[in-house]
Amino acid sequence: MFEEDYKRRFVFGSDYGTSDYKYGPITLGERPAVIENRGYLPERSMVSKILGVEKDIVVGKDVAYFLESGADLSSRMIYPMRDGVVAKSDPTAWRVIKELTKFSLEEFKPSGFGFKGYYIVASLSAIAPRYMYENLINIYDEISRETGLIHASTIIPQPLAVAIAHKELSCVVVESGHGNTQVAPISRAPIRDAIVALNRGGSEANAITAEVLKDSGYGDLAKEESLVRRVKENLGLLPLNLDEAINYAKRNPEHVRAIYQVPGTRIKIDLAEYSWTRFLIGEYVFDPNHEIFQSYFKRGMPRPSDTRVGDITFYGMLDMAETIIRAVERCPVELQPHLYSHIILSGGNFMWRPVSTMKGIAVDSQTKLQHMLRDKGLENVNVRLSPEPQYAVWRGCIVYGYAIPANYRWEWEKMEGWVYHTK
Ligand SMILES: Nc1ncnc2c1ncn2[C@@H]1O[C@H](COP(=O)(O)OP(=O)(O)OP(=O)(O)O)[C@@H](O)[C@H]1O
Ligand SMILES: [Mg+2]
Repeated sequence: MFEEDYKRRFVFGSDYGTSDYKYGPITLGERPAVIENRGYLPERSMVSKILGVEKDIVVGKDVAYFLESGADLSSRMIYPMRDGVVAKSDPTAWRVIKELTKFSLEEFKPSGFGFKGYYIVASLSAIAPRYMYENLINIYDEISRETGLIHASTIIPQPLAVAIAHKELSCVVVESGHGNTQVAPISRAPIRDAIVALNRGGSEANAITAEVLKDSGYGDLAKEESLVRRVKENLGLLPLNLDEAINYAKRNPEHVRAIYQVPGTRIKIDLAEYSWTRFLIGEYVFDPNHEIFQSYFKRGMPRPSDTRVGDITFYGMLDMAETIIRAVERCPVELQPHLYSHIILSGGNFMWRPVSTMKGIAVDSQTKLQHMLRDKGLENVNVRLSPEPQYAVWRGCIVYGYAIPANYRWEWEKMEGWVYHTK
């Protein structure tokens, strides 16, 4: 088989997210497999008892066996990424990344004859420092030698992957996942000097959801991160205008009332007279500056702060529209109108569900942002929400791997092309 044909059959996408690792081969079509980006370091004595084999890191579904055993979670459960970045001097975190990658490739090991390893396309945050590229390529080298499951690899920034998935090579990608939000103007490649990042992602929406739960009498549940996340995803709403939404809720309490039955349990969460606070959850992601949030900060909810990672500042309190404007205004004036009319939203933190019976009150991310940008005087804006926004990066990885010729070799100056691994 010609190399080019071989490559097209065996492209494998890997999107390393702060909360979820999205992965799988081209044959999956539209949707990747998803597992939590975490690893468990079991006590030696427990491993063979529970799994029947020796292992020093457990990832994927098997983690659940250890959770049930009442094992010591806090020190042994490793979440390798913070805000999309794996620390340079954290060997355990890198071992989790390696184990996850190996696990994901093994899950899709082809049985047929002639397989010599995948063409893996990995995607990292647009602000990922160079050492992450180096470490990842080294890990792929090791996996290739240990398992033969990788033939070649390449790495692309997440916003570029999204642009490719949408076949828009000149646009603004707003990627908002669990850890943070990156706004990346793209003109064939991300315009690095124009990237503006926010220190707010899905985890901040979880933080305000936990406060909402405490206020309505479910303080004990607010400690369980995964439950808080589910409450947020099921009850959180995004208001077009927060004041109007709160007024609406006060006038129509039964209509806005939020009840969530936790599947498989007897727990029923009823926000009752606090149901109007559903609107705070979505609003906080887009704009945490409303005075109503002050009381939460005073009570101890951490105020999102500015932080620096490498040469990029992650703003804490900037609203989403202002962030986009700052990014676009760092680009040539000639390009700006085109960029405003091609804004693509991706990432799970944009999956707020509009409610058809609350038209103009509880909206989707696209409507909200379009409205915010118009309010700031921009007329010709066009914001598009990626279909299945959590998977856009992975889809872009697949399209990219399919398109980049097999004989295009990796170059560090361009950060493009394939690295071939010797087994
Ligand atoms: N329906 C929903 N409403 C609100 N938030 C949601 C919804 N569905 C998923 N999310 C949130 O999206 C986030 C996960 O999105 P995604 O998979 O894009 O992040 P990630 O890739 O793990 O993180 P990152 O890209 O920041 O490294 C979680 O915070 C999750 O709670
Ligand atoms: Mg992501």
